[in-house]
Amino acid sequence: MRKFIIANWKMHYGPIKAGAWIRAFRRERLPKDLDIGVAVPHVSLAAARASLGRAGVPLLGGQNTFWMAEGAFTGETSPAMLKEFGLDFCLVGHSERRIHLGETDEMVNKKAIALQKAGMRPVICVGETELQRKKGETLKVVRAQVTAALSGLKGDGAVVPVIAYEPVWAIGTGKPCTSQDAKVVHEAIREILVKKFGKAMEVPIIYGGSVDLRNIAEFMSTTGIDGALVGGASLDPRGFGLLCRAAVPA
Ligand code: PGA
Repeated sequence: MRKFIIANWKMHYGPIKAGAWIRAFRRERLPKDLDIGVAVPHVSLAAARASLGRAGVPLLGGQNTFWMAEGAFTGETSPAMLKEFGLDFCLVGHSERRIHLGETDEMVNKKAIALQKAGMRPVICVGETELQRKKGETLKVVRAQVTAALSGLKGDGAVVPVIAYEPVWAIGTGKPCTSQDAKVVHEAIREILVKKFGKAMEVPIIYGGSVDLRNIAEFMSTTGIDGALVGGASLDPRGFGLLCRAAVPA
């Protein structure tokens, strides 16, 4: 399976800075056997696309979508609109949206289904809180989130989703999960995926939460970890280029 690294800018970079980031990142030497994407705020997508020109890397993605195709849903953006824009993927269910905007498993599921139908890869984010981990509920919580998110998604022949395991307590804290603890969770997620889709559909399971230049190689060389979702360490284009190079052995 090809590994996938996604930069998540979160709510950073309006059009001017987004364009500059893409131009700077395009000057980076990047590994060939790695898929690289960047999840951009909607308002900055056009500038990112313009700076990307004909280059195919990085793949452009959104950070959120609504589930309906069109209608009276003020402020929302539909998968069809994102698809028309030519996006490859879109994050759904990031913990920041679950926490600050009340996104539920059911909403995440509707968004994932709508994205898959529209032909874009849903990057489904799941992860336990610190309290849940302390109580020993990590696997139970993550299994429930993954199972709910995947309900009704199509298997073989359909657009392949991505699962991002992001323990909430590791996001933006500088305290990543250990690669071995992440591995255990990735294995549990893989079991669900195989049961649902069989072995034919290769769904990447990527890790997110304080990934940086120092730990990326360790995560990427851990069996069962198929890539990374990178927040803070993706904001500097040169730093993110370095991180991508460190991700795959030369
Ligand atoms: P972080 O964020 O790399 O800054 O921890 C990751 C994410 O939330 O996707």
